[in-house]
Amino acid sequence: MKVLGIETSCDETGVALYDTDAGLLAHRLHSQIDLHAAYGGVVPELASRDHIRRLPVLLRQTLADAGLDADGVDAVAYTSGPGLAGALLVGASVAEAFALARGIPALPVHHLEGHLLSPLLSADPPGFPFVALLVSGGHTQLMRVRGVGDYALLGESVDDAAGEAFDKTAKLLGLGYPGGPQLAKLAEQGVPGRFRLPRPMLHSGDLDFSFSGLKTAVLNQVSAPAWNAEGIADLAAEFQQAVVEVLCAKALAALKKVGLKTLVVAGGVGANRRLRETLDAALAKRGGRVHYPEPALCTDNGAMIAFAGALRLAAGDRGSRAGAVRIRPRWPLIELRPPRPAD
Ligand code: KG4
Ligand code: ZN
Repeated sequence: MKVLGIETSCDETGVALYDTDAGLLAHRLHSQIDLHAAYGGVVPELASRDHIRRLPVLLRQTLADAGLDADGVDAVAYTSGPGLAGALLVGASVAEAFALARGIPALPVHHLEGHLLSPLLSADPPGFPFVALLVSGGHTQLMRVRGVGDYALLGESVDDAAGEAFDKTAKLLGLGYPGGPQLAKLAEQGVPGRFRLPRPMLHSGDLDFSFSGLKTAVLNQVSAPAWNAEGIADLAAEFQQAVVEVLCAKALAALKKVGLKTLVVAGGVGANRRLRETLDAALAKRGGRVHYPEPALCTDNGAMIAFAGALRLAAGDRGSRAGAVRIRPRWPLIELRPPRPAD
C-alpha cells in the first residue's frame, strides 16, 4: 500500500510517499524560515498562504521522485492537528480533495503521533514498548508507548515547552528566528557553570517539567547592572545545560518508573547535540538505548505523517469519509486510541 503524507501544521510544508512493502519512496520539504525571519517568529497568515503556494509543487515533485502518478497512491494521510488552524486547513483540504477525486481513503493524523513513531522509520528501529520523550516547540511530554495509539502520559510541562523556552530565551538574548538552533549553536562556544541558572522541578518527585522560570532567570541575568554581553555564550551554555539536565533526569526517572530501558526522543529539540550526548551516555551506563529519528526527520516532515497513517491503515483504520475536511488545532495525544477496524 502506497500512502501519501501531507504535513502543513506550522512553518514547514512536507510531502512524502511511504510504501508499506518498500519503505519511504520519496519525501520533500519546504521550510518557511526565510519567510518568517524578518518577523522574529511564525506569522500564521503568511504560513497558510505559503503552504498553498508550495503544496501543489511539492506534491508533483514527490510523485515524480517516486516514479508514480496520482493513480498509484492508495491512501492519503494528513496532519489534522495540533497546529495553526489556517495552516492545517491547507493540508487537510488538499489531502481530502485528492482522496475524494481518486476514491481512496483519507486519514487525519495526529502531528505528535507522527513525531513519536518517526524513529521506527530508521534502519535500526526500536521495538515496543518504550518511553518517548517528546520535545517540540509546543510540547514537552514523557509517554509510555505500548503500541500504535497506546499512549499513557507520564509527565509533561506545566508551562512552556522545552522548544518554546529555547525560542523565547534566544529572543531575549537577541538571537534571530528560529531561536532554538541558534541558541544551541551559541551554547557550543560557551561554558556552562559560569552563570548559575535553576534546574526547575528537578527534585519535584514527579515527571513534570517547568521551563518558564528559566527564561525569567536569564532575563534577570541580562538586565543586571553587571551584565557584560561578552558572557552571552556562557549564559547560553548554562541555559542549555539546565534544560538538558532536567530532561535527562526526568527521562531516566520515567524509564525506572515503568521498568523499561528503551527511550525514544522525538520533536525538534531532539536535534540538540548536548541533549543527545547526555542521554546516550546516561542510557549506555544503564544498559539501555536511546533511539532518534533520522536527522532529516527530526523536525516537521511529511514522511512521519505518511508513516503513522500507513501503520494505522495497515492495522485496519478506515480513515475518514473522503471530502470531510477535519482539523483539530488543539488535540491532546492521549485522546488517541489504537487503530480499530471499522465494523
Ligand atoms: O518538532 P518541531 O520541528 O515543531 C513543532 O512541532 O513544534 O520543533 C521545533 C522546536 C522549536 O522550538 C525549535 O527551536 C526547537 O524545536 N529546536 C531546537 C533545536 N532544533 C530545533 N532546540 C534546541 N536545540 C536544537 N538544536
Ligand atoms: Zn512538530
